[in-house]
Amino acid sequence: MNVLFVASECAPFIKTGGLADVIGAVPKALAAQGASVKVLIPAYPALASLVATGQSVMDFDDLFGGPARIVAVRAKGLDLLLLEAAHLFDRPGNIYLGPNALDWPDNDMRFAGLSFAGAQIALKGLGDWRPDVVNCHDWQAGLLPVYLRQSGEPAPQVVMTIHNIAFQGLCDATRLTALGLDTDLFTPDGIEYFGKISFLKAGIALSDKITTVSPTYAAELLTPEFGMGLDGLLRARQSDLSGILNGIDLDVWSPEADEALVATYSARSLKGKARNRAEVEARFGLTPGDGPLFCLISRLTAQKGLDMLLDCLPLIVEQGATLAVLGTGEPDLERAFVAASRDYAGSVGTIIGYDEEMSHLMQGGSDAILIPSRFEPCGLTQLYGLRYGTLPVVARTGGLADTVIDANEAALLAECATGVQFAPVNATMFGHAIARTCALYRQPKVWAAMMRRAMRHPVGWDLSATAYLNVYQSISEH
Ligand code: ADP
Ligand code: GLC
Repeated sequence: MNVLFVASECAPFIKTGGLADVIGAVPKALAAQGASVKVLIPAYPALASLVATGQSVMDFDDLFGGPARIVAVRAKGLDLLLLEAAHLFDRPGNIYLGPNALDWPDNDMRFAGLSFAGAQIALKGLGDWRPDVVNCHDWQAGLLPVYLRQSGEPAPQVVMTIHNIAFQGLCDATRLTALGLDTDLFTPDGIEYFGKISFLKAGIALSDKITTVSPTYAAELLTPEFGMGLDGLLRARQSDLSGILNGIDLDVWSPEADEALVATYSARSLKGKARNRAEVEARFGLTPGDGPLFCLISRLTAQKGLDMLLDCLPLIVEQGATLAVLGTGEPDLERAFVAASRDYAGSVGTIIGYDEEMSHLMQGGSDAILIPSRFEPCGLTQLYGLRYGTLPVVARTGGLADTVIDANEAALLAECATGVQFAPVNATMFGHAIARTCALYRQPKVWAAMMRRAMRHPVGWDLSATAYLNVYQSISEH
């Protein structure tokens, strides 16, 4: 089974969120099960040194306004195809945003370029490697099946994976020609979304199968509340839609061997965790105490329900707990958390920024991780939390609902709890969940048993990689 992945991010090379973690991990798990996977991503400036070590495998004289080429390189266990197109991707700073913190005005062209290049690889192959299936990830790869269809040539089957339906890649209808799109596709069952072009809708409408990143989110997507205007189309395609849970890369996320920790530890010997906690307290200016140390590692956006966390800060302090916050995003939320660490000095500490190493240390040193998302397609930080014995306290939505077993009375008796869930998703219920977590923490034996259980809970990619392969096989035989 030859599979071409097309995406805008891939860890550890370029990352703004969980998409990168997934793209950096699944191909290795698929390869372990016999598939040959190549990953096409843009050659942003951060990848320049990798490009220099690679080999040119395809050229474009004019890819939406300039020359481009594809460079193949093997790195960190992945077969990467880097799309070098200076006019589209050679820009400083965030990969999606310009210096004014707004989307680059030509993001449509940039990711149409990625999709078009992917379509050419799908149609022509590279040497004797030809994909049986193309797996497009999120809106940035959404136009790929459109370009395949417009070519009129025999093409591989396409799977569209939705990591987050909130990002749809919308642009003005006047861009149809510039993007090389046939006007007859611009209909409500094609690529039109309320008068605009939607890259994600195009991907959903024209692909052979659709996956998303958890079973609960797959069900939620069919509702107006979560489907964000695409629920009707998804209901029409329900028989082609499935939810496959994300896993984590255990080579990168394991407390037994994590170099970002000041002390490693394992389910057998939890001792090292205390040293990591002391380090987190020092780095975030927190006063050591008897209560649990909570952490938050997140994009600071409305999706993540952080207004509820701000409402719960007095309760956290009252309970004798502390909180370390690492995040970047919406300026209002950044300001609110910075202010909180002044108002609750010693109890709340905030670092605004994106810091991969710090995120590992926090998973290693915290007792529990807070994830009050209003919606969460899968979420990875709760999976890292499980692996590090940092018990997840989560909203019961999307993948959070599917991965954490709530410590209710029945689960405690059956000895299967791995964290705390709350629903309905509001500040009052989140407050109850925080209080419940603090009460569990005051019972050291119960808490340690939950930690060990969480750390042993299977969170690797094996099962889900098999599920992806099953989807690929179901269409590639056609
Ligand atoms: P999303 O993709 O919606 O942001 P996920 O939970 O799937 O949510 O993935 C988020 C990823 O980004 C995780 O790997 C998390 O550790 C990482 N992350 C988020 N914010 C930061 C930050 N400020 N610094 C370092 N890592 C972060
Ligand atoms: C998106 C979602 C997140 C998911 C990640 C990887 O960014 O917001 O829930 O874990 O994609 O699939």
